[in-house]
Amino acid sequence: MVDDSRISGFYKLSREERVKKLKEVTGLSDEDLGPLVNPGEVDMEILDHMIENVVGSMTIPLGIATNFQVNEKDYLVPMAIEEPSVVAAASNSARMTRDHGGFTATDTGPNMIAQIQVVDVLQPESAKTKIMEAKDELLAFANEQDPILVRFGGGAKDIRIRIFDTKVGVMLITELIVDTRDAMGANAVNTMAEALAPRIEKLSGGRVILRILSNLAEFRLVRVRAIFDRDMLGGEEVVNDIIAAWAFAEADPYRCATHNKGIMNGIDSVVIATGNDFRAIEAGAHSYAAMNGYSPLTKYEKSPEGHLVGSIEIPMAVGLVGGATKVHPAARASVKILGVKTATELGHVIASVGLAQNLAALRALASEGIQKGHMALHARNVAATAGARGDQVDIVAEKLVKEKNVKVERAKELLDELTM
Ligand code: MEV
Repeated sequence: MVDDSRISGFYKLSREERVKKLKEVTGLSDEDLGPLVNPGEVDMEILDHMIENVVGSMTIPLGIATNFQVNEKDYLVPMAIEEPSVVAAASNSARMTRDHGGFTATDTGPNMIAQIQVVDVLQPESAKTKIMEAKDELLAFANEQDPILVRFGGGAKDIRIRIFDTKVGVMLITELIVDTRDAMGANAVNTMAEALAPRIEKLSGGRVILRILSNLAEFRLVRVRAIFDRDMLGGEEVVNDIIAAWAFAEADPYRCATHNKGIMNGIDSVVIATGNDFRAIEAGAHSYAAMNGYSPLTKYEKSPEGHLVGSIEIPMAVGLVGGATKVHPAARASVKILGVKTATELGHVIASVGLAQNLAALRALASEGIQKGHMALHARNVAATAGARGDQVDIVAEKLVKEKNVKVERAKELLDELTM
């Protein structure tokens, strides 16, 4: 945790200076940050046990977003992503909320759903009633599978039954709602579902096939709102045009897919940096967005003073215990930089980044277009690829943009001229 996430001119520092600054403001040690700032330090032995047939590792850049304040706490946010502009854009949007109290986040609690699919049920309605009659006993049995989770205040809390008429006949789906506390919860809920299956078969008189969590985590939602300053955004006209851009997404799924993709740029970056399952988050986000016709995950309105009021509501199945978050040394370092104490707190920050990211994209699109900023950053990439280092990167990149010729060949020529 940091006292103040505003670090003026952070982007202007060299990478080494940024690392120094990061240590200074977070109080973290070389040992804490080592595997993140020097990926070569990550013990291959650990990676070798994470998946199968390991031969190496793949590094992607990790940047720090500044300016985030969520529920009155400041956060520096690690973001792992290959796309330029994303980290700068998130930091910039977060800055525009600070005079209006930053981001305010709430949640539904960390409740996951496990599904047990029953087929060949002759009397589905009476099967449903029988299962609901046994609800307390079923919940108690599910909780016997994970006493530690129960000790931490989590565990199976509820059961709901849904009946579908499908292409292969009637199907009865028993859903177990489990508070998974600080775990993402896939292992916990899958274990419970598998354990309950024989009892469900007996009660329903049918045959169980699947026993697996649902990534449509509708009981693990995070809601965030923030006010983005009208003047910092560029005036009331920009505010109106951002709202019009959002309304476009609301009206059209083709635009909405891209709108939500921009949100996920921010969300996935933090999810990846913290070693969480970004496929689960993507599946949850888009399926939740599609529940009542595919819609934007964010909403925008104008305050009486003309400021932009943004909000987001999104499933947020992230954990802090278990999985890569606990095992991968770089992910552990990211969690330390964030200073979050619970999975829910992590979810609050991630959803705030999603809102910030979306606002930045809409603002750029509704004003100068995204290519200008994008090209400036892309040019730095191209300059570095051509071999530019240190100050050379900015000098070459600037010329590439001015010439409107952002190509590696041209960057090499410019670099040759510079070093002659
Ligand atoms: C690019 O990665 C994301 C955007 O296309 C999002 C959007 O259009 O809202 C800029």
